[in-house]
Amino acid sequence: MDEPVDPGVRVVYSRLWKYVTPHKLVGFIAIVGMTATAIVEAGLVFLLGPLMDETLVAQRLQTVNWIPLAFMGIFVVRGLSGFATESSLGWIGRHVISDLRREVFGKFLTLPTKYFDAQTAGPLLSRMTYNVEMVAESVTSVVTVAIRDTLTVVAALAVMLYRSPTLTIFVAVLFPVVAALVRLLGVAFRRYSGRIQDSVGELTQVTNEIVRGNWVVKAFGGYDYERQRLENADGKNRKQNLKLIRVRSLGGAVTQIVFGFGIALVIYAAGRQSVEGVLSPGQFISFFAAMMLMLQPVRRITNVNATLQRGVAAADSLFMVIDEEDEEDSGTVTIDRVRGDVRFADVSFSYGDKKGPVLSNVDINLQAGKTLAIVGKSGSGKSTLVSLLPRFYELSSGDILIDDVPIRDFTLASLRDNISLVSQDVVLFNDTIANNLAYGQLESLPEEDLLRAAEAAYVLDFTKDLPDGLDTMVGDRGVLLSGGQRQRIAIGRALLKNSPILILDEATSSLDSQSERRIQDALRVLMKDRTTFVIAHRLSTVEKADMIIVLDAGRVVESGTHDKLLQQGGHYAALYRLQFSDE
Ligand SMILES: Nc1ncnc2c1ncn2[C@@H]1O[C@H](COP(=O)(O)OP(=O)(O)OP(=O)(O)O)[C@@H](O)[C@H]1O
Ligand SMILES: [Mg+2]
Repeated sequence: MDEPVDPGVRVVYSRLWKYVTPHKLVGFIAIVGMTATAIVEAGLVFLLGPLMDETLVAQRLQTVNWIPLAFMGIFVVRGLSGFATESSLGWIGRHVISDLRREVFGKFLTLPTKYFDAQTAGPLLSRMTYNVEMVAESVTSVVTVAIRDTLTVVAALAVMLYRSPTLTIFVAVLFPVVAALVRLLGVAFRRYSGRIQDSVGELTQVTNEIVRGNWVVKAFGGYDYERQRLENADGKNRKQNLKLIRVRSLGGAVTQIVFGFGIALVIYAAGRQSVEGVLSPGQFISFFAAMMLMLQPVRRITNVNATLQRGVAAADSLFMVIDEEDEEDSGTVTIDRVRGDVRFADVSFSYGDKKGPVLSNVDINLQAGKTLAIVGKSGSGKSTLVSLLPRFYELSSGDILIDDVPIRDFTLASLRDNISLVSQDVVLFNDTIANNLAYGQLESLPEEDLLRAAEAAYVLDFTKDLPDGLDTMVGDRGVLLSGGQRQRIAIGRALLKNSPILILDEATSSLDSQSERRIQDALRVLMKDRTTFVIAHRLSTVEKADMIIVLDAGRVVESGTHDKLLQQGGHYAALYRLQFSDE
């Protein structure tokens, strides 16, 4: 049926089509299967004519002999073609799913950090699961309807025409009526299906949060709050789904009722013709069976709009991710190992237009191999400052140079290869301790290097008591380890990467004083001959730095060595005094 398809839908569908076209051969099998199905089904209803007239009424022996054979043949073909259709369409569907999933996942790997900051995880996660399946389901059922059902309708019409042209005209009159009704109902679908996907994302989000935050839920008695959140999300999901079901089933019901009236009319007309001797019983039965054969396909054709709209809404959400801009990576400089001079020249940064500046006019000049300590109040911009160096975010103005090359001129890969990072929140992957240590490009590392790093970062200290040692699984995000153990793995990871520039953001904050002191030794070895940015609240770790800067609300308010800053008696001296009165 030629529904008026709005151009947006057509664009999305023709784009989706590109995921199907690589599977031409399998698609061909599916088309053959569907065509065969349509033909044999029409053949079946056609045979009802001779079955009735010649076998049952005229009692011709010849027909009695060949009719069962013909029926058998039809069912064999029907079975085989059904199998060919389903398995080849399934094959295509699963490949479309894999392709889309891989593409979206690949996109997640190259999207800028900013993108993830602005999104909630739930809807992103449900795109990978729910939306992708929805797209494939839509594509395969739309294809089935477009080919098999349409052909069945055509073949059935042919049988009807052959059996009785006049009756066929009656039926043909019904089609525009049904089409008009369907057109009216179709508009509503797209709206609802978009909302359903949103509410699935919300469900994923809420569930994900209680799974991750179950300690907080328990400790703060957040049961009712969480239940309420789930009920809201689930209620929304149910409501939208019910609306969709209502619209869809109403569409079906209306179609059926219209058909009912139509059939009654046809029965009346056929009855008249039969009485007048124009129509034999066989022709009557065959005509009717052909019409009935049309009913289901017609119903599916009328519903195809809903399926199509759902698929389009789902595909739209995927294409939105796929069309997002990647991290800018237009630099061409690759240096295997930079010397490590780092200069911040009048760097300003803000997380977004609406948010105020987080860093203003920061100037830093750090020679290769030296250590810069960054201190300042919580929220003063320390982590932000160091996150600019590996280009997790783009500068608002100013420049950062490594060995006098602006970091934008490096390829991202080369830039990041030269930087090791121990971040404030340690991120571990659900894998073994060894694989977490060797995460990234380091998989091919020799065993001794791994052991040496594990030793130096005091990871062996706690793994030696574990039955599986370094092969112990760390659990989701490392939940099976203590905070300090996680931190030691992160330090070991940085040690292994052995890059000329090192960033330590509160690298030892979760360690007790004794472990910290020991790790400090490891870190001192690590920092030697590397350009290091170290952020620490404990000033004892800061004292030995070659230079210290104090950040306040994104500005460098003081800089110099420990001794000089103490003498100055400004912010740093005040922080220092505060710490000593603490200890
Ligand atoms: N991803 C982000 N998007 C928007 N704003 C952010 C983001 N990360 C941090 N901010 C804001 O930027 C400011 C500086 O944050 P930053 O994490 O750099 O502080 P910090 O000095 O490292 O603090 P802390 O000592 O607590 O780690 C804060 O006001 C914070 O709210
Ligand atoms: Mg921080």
